[in-house]
Amino acid sequence: MLEAIIIITSIIVIFTIAIIVRAMWDPFYCCFMTTSDIGVLSSASLIKISSSVYISEHFINSGNSGKWARSITKFSRMLVVVHNGELCLYNPCPLTTELRKELAELGRIRRVVVTNCFHYAFLSQYIDACPEATFLVPQGMMWKRPEFQQHCIAIPAATEGSLFPGTHYFRLPDFYQEHVIFVEEANLLYCSDTLYIREPETRPHGRLEVRLMQGFIRLISFSQPCGAIHYFDYVRQFRLPGSNDLHKKNVESWRKIFALPITRVTTGHGVFCGCVSVTKAELENLLRCIERKDGWMDRAGRMVFRMCIRRSPIRYRDWTCLYDEEAQFGYHPSVKEEEEPGLRCCISETPNKE
Ligand SMILES: [Fe+2]
Repeated sequence: MLEAIIIITSIIVIFTIAIIVRAMWDPFYCCFMTTSDIGVLSSASLIKISSSVYISEHFINSGNSGKWARSITKFSRMLVVVHNGELCLYNPCPLTTELRKELAELGRIRRVVVTNCFHYAFLSQYIDACPEATFLVPQGMMWKRPEFQQHCIAIPAATEGSLFPGTHYFRLPDFYQEHVIFVEEANLLYCSDTLYIREPETRPHGRLEVRLMQGFIRLISFSQPCGAIHYFDYVRQFRLPGSNDLHKKNVESWRKIFALPITRVTTGHGVFCGCVSVTKAELENLLRCIERKDGWMDRAGRMVFRMCIRRSPIRYRDWTCLYDEEAQFGYHPSVKEEEEPGLRCCISETPNKE
């Protein structure tokens, strides 16, 4: 009898710890581990995907604020699209001297886009280096980081459209205005945080910490098995309150995205080189995983997340501010757009069907 009680108690404790770690890992990491002195451990040369598409890949740690921060490492990827000698960069990576040279050889940086409310760590490097470029960020970023308002333009309110010739964006209802980018010429889908590659064709390094990081990502995501590419199921915990139809809208967005002629996928993080090939069958399988309704782990994680985050607005300011009404799609400063008449010709919106 005593053994049974010990076993049951242990199982409950393990699951409770797992739920708390899963719910709080990202806020903890973003609020306490990431500092302004993010370290670049290694940088690869630009990876050519097609004649006009490149990936810049870096292996970074979270700064030098302490032992734990130095230990947390991740791959970070920037998408580079070239059109008529002009470049559009999605999710700015560390602007190293080598990268600066490589980009200069490709053309002039015309536009820099941050695709969700968390991928802005290196944005100021580009603002300083490219005064002639235009900088686009999700509307929530204008609220989260008001200091960027003087330099940046909010991505249009429409849920899909184009920010640069040959590219198309879709804003997902999930994960704080995550924008998925499709590049026609390369049949490439770029998604920063809601997808991850589980079984890459090639691995960039055989280093122990890389393998550990891959295992850790699998652990915290608790993703359902769905082939080489996984949906980061843990983002279900961060869904905004009061959006009961959010799951349905999310599935509709992904269904529309996967109807595109996608043959390659790349993500903001994850252990692989450049991008991976993907088949229609794999995307259909992935869609079935996204269609899965939220499970008890997701609901329990959401409860923990809301309890910790929303009740500690000061400590978790980077996250709680995204729940403010102004950070949602109603906040759309237009002053900068009016100052920049040339921008309109490059940014097109697909009418918002919502
Ligand atoms: Fe990310």
